[in-house]
Order: sequence, then C-alpha cells, then structure tokens
Amino acid sequence: MKSELYETKLKFALTERPRRLRKLPLLRALVQETRLSAADFVYPIFVDQRLAKREEISSMPEIYRLAMKDIPAEIEEVKSLEISAVLVFGLPDQKNPMATEAYAWDGVVQQAIRAIKKAAPELIVVADLCLCEYTDHGHCGVVQGGKIDNDQTLELLSKTAVSQAEAGADIVAPSGMMDGQVKAIRTGLDEGGFADTTIMSYAAKYASSFYGPFREAAECAPVWGDRRSYQMDPPNRREALKEIAMDIDQGADIVMVKPALSYLDVIHAARAEFQVPIAAYNVSGEYAMVKAAARNGWLNERSIALEILTGIKRAGADIIITYFAKQASRWLQENK
Ligand code: PBG
Repeated sequence: MKSELYETKLKFALTERPRRLRKLPLLRALVQETRLSAADFVYPIFVDQRLAKREEISSMPEIYRLAMKDIPAEIEEVKSLEISAVLVFGLPDQKNPMATEAYAWDGVVQQAIRAIKKAAPELIVVADLCLCEYTDHGHCGVVQGGKIDNDQTLELLSKTAVSQAEAGADIVAPSGMMDGQVKAIRTGLDEGGFADTTIMSYAAKYASSFYGPFREAAECAPVWGDRRSYQMDPPNRREALKEIAMDIDQGADIVMVKPALSYLDVIHAARAEFQVPIAAYNVSGEYAMVKAAARNGWLNERSIALEILTGIKRAGADIIITYFAKQASRWLQENK
C-alpha cells in the first residue's frame, strides 16, 4: 500500500525528464554542446636533420621523427585531413651551450618551415620556440654558474623568433618559461619587420612528468638537474593566471596551458578570465598512456581519445595541440 502511493507520487512529480533529449541519436546530436572538429587541432611534428628516413618514436606509437624528405608526404596528409596547423620541433645535427642551431638561417626548423610552406602554403605553421633541443646541456636557456640565466636567454629567443618568421612561420610559440620572453620576442619581431607574426605563448607550462616521451622524441632531457626553476609548480593555479595575464600584457596573441588533462581546471579558469584564444597541449605522456592501454586491450582507443579531446575543449580550450590530430580527424570524418 505504502509503496504504491510512493510510485504514483513519483510519476506525477517527475516533470523534468532529461532523458527526453537522449532518446535518439539525431536528437543527441542536436543538443550536443561541444563539437570537436579537425579545425581545432594542431599536429606536432618532429624533424630530424640527421635522418635519411623517418623513424617511429618507441614511446609514442605512430608518431615519427621525420627526415627532411618526408615532409611533403606528411604535410599532404595533414592537409587532406583538414587539420589547421602543425607545430614544428627540430632535432639539429649539433648542439652547443649557446644553442646556435636554434637561430641558424639553415637550421633544421628553418629548413623544415620552408619545406612545409612549399608543400602547403595555406597550412598554418607554428614554430616551437625553445632552446632545449639545441643546447648540449638540455636546458631551455643559457647556463651561467650552474643556473639558467634568464636575461641572456631572452636575446637568443628573440633572434630565434626572427629567424623562424623569416623562414615563413605564421606563429612562433615560446615554450621556455623565461620571464619577459614574450616582450623580448615581440620587440625582436617588430624591429625585424615581422609585426604580423603571431605569438602563441606557452604561458602556463608546468614542470610535468607527462613530458617523458617527448624528451626521448626530441632528445631534450636536461643532462643535469630539472626544469623546476623555470617551469611552473603543478599545485599552483593562481600563479598560472598571473603568468597568462603577464604574457597577454607583453603581447601574446594566444596563450597556452600545458599539459591539458591534469590541468583542466586551469584551462577553465583561463577561459573564464581572459579574452584571447586559449590553447591546450595534450602532451606526449597523455598520448602514450592511451596508446599503451589500448595496445593491451584495456581501453578502446578511439572512444577514449575522442572523449579526452572533447573534455579538453569542454573545459574551455579553443585550440588543441595533440598527437591524436590525424587519427581523431579521421575518426570524426567517419562519424559524420
Ligand atoms: C620544450 C618542450 C617540451 C614539450 C614541448 N616543448 C618538453 C619540456 O619542456 O621538457 C613537451 C611536449 C610533450 O610532452 O608533448 N621546451
């Protein structure tokens, strides 16, 4: 008797039935709040000056270090998938304390940028702007007395930005977390005649263990010490908002939060507080974890990857830098 009364009451009380919007696939599509598209993606590529042909990166399945001659085919594929941009990293044939290959006219990234622009003039080319692939000690700046010297590094970053813009980069992306780097780069670019070159700053870049596979890919692990004196401390969010505000003040056009998955709250806070486009970097360790689990048959790679990318976008990212860009673009085409 008592339970019958309860059921009747419930039936009439249930005016809100969110399931009404979930009953059919097209209805779900109609009310979908976040929609991923290939246009959201930036695809990172590694170009290795020493290679005659591409080599797969063991901790990042299906991602390769490319030889210069592999660029046209790779770019053709990226273009055909309607991905917006590539982010270029270079592995030079020689490293030294002052990272001279980072700003050499014929440096690996400069050559790669020219080759990409030749293959696809309309594809956006983002040049990663950091010294760690070019220094023999693996740090992102000039080392003086066992420390990373901020202000000496700025000049090299500014020179590197100009050489990348000269080679044809549409966007330069400083990732070294030196104080004042955006201002130094903006000044260098403007004085060099590149007032139109966009800056996407890695404004809130954390000292994260999720970069492990990348350091193997780009051979840029520091030989001694770690990056905690310049990259951010993972527990801090307010400080990320301060870094972002400072970079916007200094002239950043786009700001980035990196990594993405453990920092979705930072992406969300940045989106709410600032008016510029927010990029999020779905980094190498985040990619490697999914690949490893999928290879073990523990997760469904396709649905997990799309769920992760959707989550990053839902948190507030306008731009997603991801090693899944090609696969995800293919999956999105198939889902249509
Ligand atoms: C170099 C740089 C790193 C990444 C992008 N640029 C590594 C680092 O700071 O140690 C990481 C990218 C990734 O893990 O996918 N400054």
